[in-house]
Amino acid sequence: MKDSLFIKAAFSEKTERPPVWMMRQAGRFMPEYWEIKNKYSFLEMCKTPEIAADVTMLPVDLLGIDAAILFSDILVTGEAMGGDLSFTAGVGPKFANPVRTQADIDRLDTEVVHKLQYVADAIKVVQQRLNGSIPLIGFAGAPFTVMSYLVEGGSSKDFKLTKLLMHNHPELAHQLLSKIAKVTAGYLNLQIAAGVNAIQIFDSWAQALAWDDYKEFSHRYIVEIISQLDRKDIPVISFCKGSSVFAPLMAEAKPDVISIDWNVDLLDIKHRLPQGIAVQGNLDPHILYADKKVIKERIHRLFERMRGENGFIFNLGHGIMPDIPFDNVKYAVDVIKEFRY
Ligand code: CP3
Repeated sequence: MKDSLFIKAAFSEKTERPPVWMMRQAGRFMPEYWEIKNKYSFLEMCKTPEIAADVTMLPVDLLGIDAAILFSDILVTGEAMGGDLSFTAGVGPKFANPVRTQADIDRLDTEVVHKLQYVADAIKVVQQRLNGSIPLIGFAGAPFTVMSYLVEGGSSKDFKLTKLLMHNHPELAHQLLSKIAKVTAGYLNLQIAAGVNAIQIFDSWAQALAWDDYKEFSHRYIVEIISQLDRKDIPVISFCKGSSVFAPLMAEAKPDVISIDWNVDLLDIKHRLPQGIAVQGNLDPHILYADKKVIKERIHRLFERMRGENGFIFNLGHGIMPDIPFDNVKYAVDVIKEFRY
């Protein structure tokens, strides 16, 4: 796998073109996803290795991307710890037993990695199907982002309860974050042992945090997790919304790649990072709603900016929205794969 475009770019080695994959590529913008989703619940899909593998393979087979990402969710760690998790169409994820008090935190279990064996099983099925063709990315949520779902009981616009816990009861927030970090490190090592070729840590909602709070309540736990990974020759990608601001701090956690949102010039930020850290990104996903002429022009603009740079993986600044036309995503992948440095 070390000769794959994706792994080479992740380790800042020279490639003939940037590799491409897209966050949320294994999801709802594909009609074929709905054929499966109409038969099972989302958690059933995650927990049945053959089905998780089927969905993981959809963008591999239909788009021809350069890396697969395991079909799962960042909230499975919270569920394994004792969160009563459900996903409802139009509502999104819910934890029916939110974690807000000392007693709630005490109830969360950390000896739970064995409960996530279904993820290891899915990884093995996917690797049989990929048969060495492209790398498989495993992932987990960062402690702050997972904490926000546990505390709020679901998605949130302002993270009011999470921030109140952090600001009024920092010792409780740290207990909770430490528990999540411990489970997350064990969970990622389970994925590595099962055979993933790369790891991405999703801190999707970090941009809600002030700089000091990001350092204290998010960054610190990502450092802890990355330092505990049994990395071997597996690149680690650190993603957050807000990376355009936090990237220099994110670099201190020593990931191989930082995934950058679309609020910043990708080359400028790369030059501000230590040598040897690759960047991933950073097209605004909304570009994929636009006319094909615009899609091509914006992708080329990004490539011209990054021409001659080692260590660039094409991705979106955040995930594909479910209503983006499949045809536009396919077109974007084709445009990227025709490009040469
Ligand atoms: O990238 C991939 O395609 C791999 C699979 C993947 C999913 N979720 C599948 C999914 C990954 C990497 C995730 C990560 C995830 N989950 C994140 C971080 C990524 C990001 O975009 O920032 C977050 C914040 C979650 C939590 C989560 N899971 C939410 C908020 C939702 C609902 C979103 C909504 O709009 O309803 C989910 C559900 C989910 N995860 C779906 C998929 C395909 C949709 C489930 C369905 O079919 O209804």
